[in-house]
Amino acid sequence: MKHLLTAQDLTRHDAVRLLDMATEFSDVANRSVPKLPTLRGVTMVNLFFEDSTRTRLSFEAAANRLSADVMTFQVQGSSVSKGESLKDTAQTVEAMGADIIVIRHFSSGAAHRLAHSGWVDASIINAGDGTHEHPTQALLDAATVREKMVSQPRGADLSGLHLAIVGDIAHSRVARSNVFLLTTLGARVTVVGPPELLPSGVEGWPVHTSSDLDAVIDESPDAIMMLRIQKERIKGDFQPASGDYVRHFSLTKDRASRLAEHAIVLHPGPMNRGVEIASEVADSSRSVILDQVRHGVAVRMAVLFEVWGGE
Ligand code: CP
Repeated sequence: MKHLLTAQDLTRHDAVRLLDMATEFSDVANRSVPKLPTLRGVTMVNLFFEDSTRTRLSFEAAANRLSADVMTFQVQGSSVSKGESLKDTAQTVEAMGADIIVIRHFSSGAAHRLAHSGWVDASIINAGDGTHEHPTQALLDAATVREKMVSQPRGADLSGLHLAIVGDIAHSRVARSNVFLLTTLGARVTVVGPPELLPSGVEGWPVHTSSDLDAVIDESPDAIMMLRIQKERIKGDFQPASGDYVRHFSLTKDRASRLAEHAIVLHPGPMNRGVEIASEVADSSRSVILDQVRHGVAVRMAVLFEVWGGE
């Protein structure tokens, strides 16, 4: 696998292999020197045209743990403000030695363009492109669900589990990548949100849809993933952070108390506490939000290793 552009590119076999590899790599964090020589001499560049905390830092941590050299580009303070294009920016970082480019961009399709335009030879990893995909987020979410919900995780998929993804599905690259990866791994997925925040074409997705969160909670999902409203991507008059939204779609303490005893709560972050999720729920024993962050490093180690040859 030279590039990782979408979760839809991953077969069940690919995904299980990456999750198993991430499980192996997660042990590195417990060593006195948490480093492997695996990618010594390889240079990874983080090319971030949008803000990030988790994804950017965890790719840096993952590359450092594999002994790769790391360069980070952030659009603020760069020559993009002088009109430099994506092509020229990518070719500039490749001329400085980039072997792997991790790109986050506000345009859907930017990672695909970089991988297939012939502008650069580097491996490309999509770290989030517009409203399209965020495949490494889906992998780390699957790793978290697998660790928490599957008794013998190595080699296993997510067959038999029911996950609900709740919120602004229409503008969420996390939702899209998760729908495709989780269903590839055998899970049943229900997406839940107000009709205005369900994407056009959702009928063609391999999911059930609902605009009734209480009814979905009554179905006892094994895991529920709450999503932020992507205000920065919403055009038009819909004001989803209104009291109505919180009343119908927030995971309040009361709603969380009606989940099955074993059910876990995920959120990819950043959270808007008191909007899509109550603080008490985010900080509760059901919450696996920081486990997701922890898995992010190991999953990204696995993806870096895989795009660099996987040997
Ligand atoms: N989940 C996620 O992509 O978070 P960041 O925007 O902080 O990277």
